[in-house]
Amino acid sequence: MAGGVIASEDGRDYPGKLTFKVFMTCVIAATGGLIFGYDLGISGGVTSMDSFLEKFFPAVYRKEASVKPSDDQYCKFDSQTLTLFTSSLYLAALVASIFASTITRHFGRRTTMLWGGILFCAGALVNGFADRVWMLIVGRMLLGFGIGCANQSVPIYVSEMAPYKYRGALNMMFQLAITIGILIANLLNYFFAQIEGGWGWRLSLGGAMVPALIIIIGSFCLPDTPNSLIERNHYDEAKEQLVKIRGISNVDEEFNDLVAASEASKLVKHPWATIFQRKYRPQLTMAICIPFFQQLTGMNVITFYAPVLFKTIGFGSSASLMSAVITGSVNSAATLVSIFSVDRWGRRTLFLQGGAQMFICQVIITIAIAAKFGMTGNPGELPKWYASGLVFFICIYVAGFAWSWGPLGWLVPSEIFPLEIRSAAQSINVSVNMIFTFAIAQVFTSMLCHLKFGLFIFFACWVVVMSFFIYKFLPETKGVPIEEMSIVWQNHPYWRKFVCSEQEDKSTTPGGPGSGDIQMSKRVNNA
Ligand code: BGC
Repeated sequence: MAGGVIASEDGRDYPGKLTFKVFMTCVIAATGGLIFGYDLGISGGVTSMDSFLEKFFPAVYRKEASVKPSDDQYCKFDSQTLTLFTSSLYLAALVASIFASTITRHFGRRTTMLWGGILFCAGALVNGFADRVWMLIVGRMLLGFGIGCANQSVPIYVSEMAPYKYRGALNMMFQLAITIGILIANLLNYFFAQIEGGWGWRLSLGGAMVPALIIIIGSFCLPDTPNSLIERNHYDEAKEQLVKIRGISNVDEEFNDLVAASEASKLVKHPWATIFQRKYRPQLTMAICIPFFQQLTGMNVITFYAPVLFKTIGFGSSASLMSAVITGSVNSAATLVSIFSVDRWGRRTLFLQGGAQMFICQVIITIAIAAKFGMTGNPGELPKWYASGLVFFICIYVAGFAWSWGPLGWLVPSEIFPLEIRSAAQSINVSVNMIFTFAIAQVFTSMLCHLKFGLFIFFACWVVVMSFFIYKFLPETKGVPIEEMSIVWQNHPYWRKFVCSEQEDKSTTPGGPGSGDIQMSKRVNNA
């Protein structure tokens, strides 16, 4: 594997290699994303299965079955109860991610992952055997608790383990695992929907136990991160761990910086209050805006409801599930592009390029749906070439998301928070993501009913706003060691005034919170 001295772009060197151990550790940890992905991918397909609808949501089933070709097709799935099935999970995840921050801080990232796996496994069992709607909802909530724990801990874990030069690529394994989870779920839905007797949905929902077991076993095998060990006062163990994962014997410089950051962070007794201080304004803004914007790309309209969407625009049941498999494959394949390019081209380039690509596709998709489906959503006989063209542009849109906002929505927040607020800030990031995942899941069918073909234009407008936000406010974080991140804000034309006035305050308060950070950056600036 690649090795040697790694020089950060700001001149700081931490010697170290991308060892096989650290690579495998990150791969195993990132499979935590599988449970999230499996769930994202499974619910849309299940809610488009007639046997499932008939059993749990008979009113929706009757409505869908009674829609005549001349009726408004855009509204046939419009049911708040049905969407509550999909969205309830994300409310539970939101609550769990807040509690998870305390577990992550005091007991380590691994413990939170383990709990994530256990809760998710329990939820999968309840759902697989569900006989009543309440069982479905309880199962969904358990799954949600599991996802909240995993999403809070896994991105932090990977960012802390990775040598900073490869942090982007390794962290994106999390997103890759999410997309693989979605794809597996899409494929299983396709096959299980064909099971005679219509009980295939039980296998789809119960199958979530498999990714859950992977994260449970994984969290037993993984070591704790040096940062977390230091945070919990296990200094010797932390150093030993750092030596092992960096594959060299002299890790003093990195170790000392981790200790300095940890000491500064220990002075912060209340991370939840601290994060609202003015000097953390850039991080707080990113922790809120990045997940918010990620959801407003509209990607989850495809993730959750591709089968429903394809069915709405006239595809048959099985063609709809197959099209979801196609978009799922594109999603995974395109994530690989970002893994290979993020540490070379940087985060900003990918964000901006992906945004432009998504915008263009959203406009084309809107025109294509408007032209053929009009106000009723009824295309009459839909020519094959037209349907394929539509799926093609949806795929290009998905690819744009998959190498930009998808992975970067998790990577950037996990690498910009200083240790003293890291767990709390990551919880905010996950919570905001979950609130808006919930909102999109909940309102999608009625948005489709009311906005009709204008649905994609709504998201396209947001894509313009978020691209401007990145252009103006997000500094490049490629190649900057995680404990040195304060420098990028100090050098940023807009954020400088927030962090620099604090730095002056601190020079009059020796040893104040974050001072380790500041000392490190001073050394760098003097270098
Ligand atoms: C997002 C999910 C989305 C998935 C699609 C993730 O990064 O957080 O909401 O469904 O990407 O690949």
